[in-house]
Amino acid sequence: MLNWLPARVVALRAKVFEKVNGDNAITFPNEQVGPGRFQELYSHPAANGRSKGAGLSDLFWYWLSPGPEVHQEHLEAGPRYDDVARATRTFLAGSSEALSAAATRCTAKVLDEVITGRVTAVRLRELMMPVWAEYFYELVFGEPCPRHARDLIVAHATDVVTSLKCTGLRHPARRARLTRYLRARLADVRHPLPRTLSETEQVHYLQGTYFNTAVVQMAEAMAHLLLALAQHPEAARRVDDDRYFAHVLDETFRLYPLFGIAHRITTADIELDDRTFFPAGSVLCFNYPAYHATGYDDPDVFDPGRWETTAARNEHHIPFGVAANRPCPAWRLSPIAMRASAREVLRRVTPHSSVTHTRSLPSRGPCLLVRDGPVPRFRLVLMRVRDRWEDVWRSVVQLVLGTAMVLHAHRLRPAGRYFDTHDTQGCPVRH
Ligand code: HEM
Repeated sequence: MLNWLPARVVALRAKVFEKVNGDNAITFPNEQVGPGRFQELYSHPAANGRSKGAGLSDLFWYWLSPGPEVHQEHLEAGPRYDDVARATRTFLAGSSEALSAAATRCTAKVLDEVITGRVTAVRLRELMMPVWAEYFYELVFGEPCPRHARDLIVAHATDVVTSLKCTGLRHPARRARLTRYLRARLADVRHPLPRTLSETEQVHYLQGTYFNTAVVQMAEAMAHLLLALAQHPEAARRVDDDRYFAHVLDETFRLYPLFGIAHRITTADIELDDRTFFPAGSVLCFNYPAYHATGYDDPDVFDPGRWETTAARNEHHIPFGVAANRPCPAWRLSPIAMRASAREVLRRVTPHSSVTHTRSLPSRGPCLLVRDGPVPRFRLVLMRVRDRWEDVWRSVVQLVLGTAMVLHAHRLRPAGRYFDTHDTQGCPVRH
């Protein structure tokens, strides 16, 4: 009846974002730089500015606070970035066995609490949030996660992802409770923290990297993986085969990349050829879903089999970014931990879902986890009806809240104000 509404609202929301940000942003792939040269541009040494000089940065800093100015993703290149990136690499290192065992243990602990009957209705992202809160707490503090710490982490990460998807407003007080907890625990962290950061910045580094980005990204990625498996039982039956599991993961990442767009600000002129020139200060937006949809037969179809005859590195497939330009530091850890976690889920239950699977997944992935016996068909029908209806009203909520937050971020100018008084290495400047 109102099926057209969500798509129209998404288009309108994109327009509002463009207008209010007021950047001269260019989105790729486009006619000028197509999929064939997408990675060449993304990997260009001058495509390396992260925050300074883009209106979009105000919005990301607004969503990621506290501490967006020391979040690795938003630090400008230089000694501080190198110091932070080195620390992150140390935290995320570890043997495959240890990374897998921790993922199995944390998944089992949460499933023991959640799955109490034959059929359990869950939202997959919510199911996974406490799993990764436990996991990254162990990684940071080297001990099991106490319940109150888990609650603080989940509340914080949920607040960030809810506001990022414009399904709710942000709650700074909720986030500040985790900041206070981490400040009191700073001496217990098991690896050295970046020395170029002050104590407050180190707290924000921990909060932003491990208890926001890591928890949110892993919960989202697992929601996509489990939803894909719920809707493709033939694939779910084969996940014990390592090779096949890798194909399922490649295909899930291809069709549902966690990044919609990653942006860079050019720090010098870029001349790809006589006719392709971007002056310093251009905002380049790299559209992951559009790039991942080129170069494949039936790109909209979920088909793990397509990876039997080719390797992801030879195709348009960059779920963790491009190697030459600040790729994700968790590109090794994530697939290892996801495989262990997914197998632990599938060992206990069979997932079923009738909802629409979209990349941004604002529904949080409704799903039935069935321990044994038949799947209740009527509950799947109800789930589908409810999902369609929720889609309509949620898209309106997203438009209203998204517009409100874009305007608020535009007024606060968190990134703009920071660079009014600091240089790109965080040193105060006088005017
Ligand atoms: C399946 C899970 C994940 C996916 C698909 C993913 C994807 C990405 C992508 C595409 C980028 C690069 C974006 C760009 O070019 O600007 C990125 C950057 C980043 N990711 Fe991940 N990520 C995941 C999990 C994690 C985890 C677990 C962490 C934990 C610390 C993490 C921390 C970061 C950081 C700090 C950056 C910024 C890197 C830099 O600028 O140096 N990610 N991620």
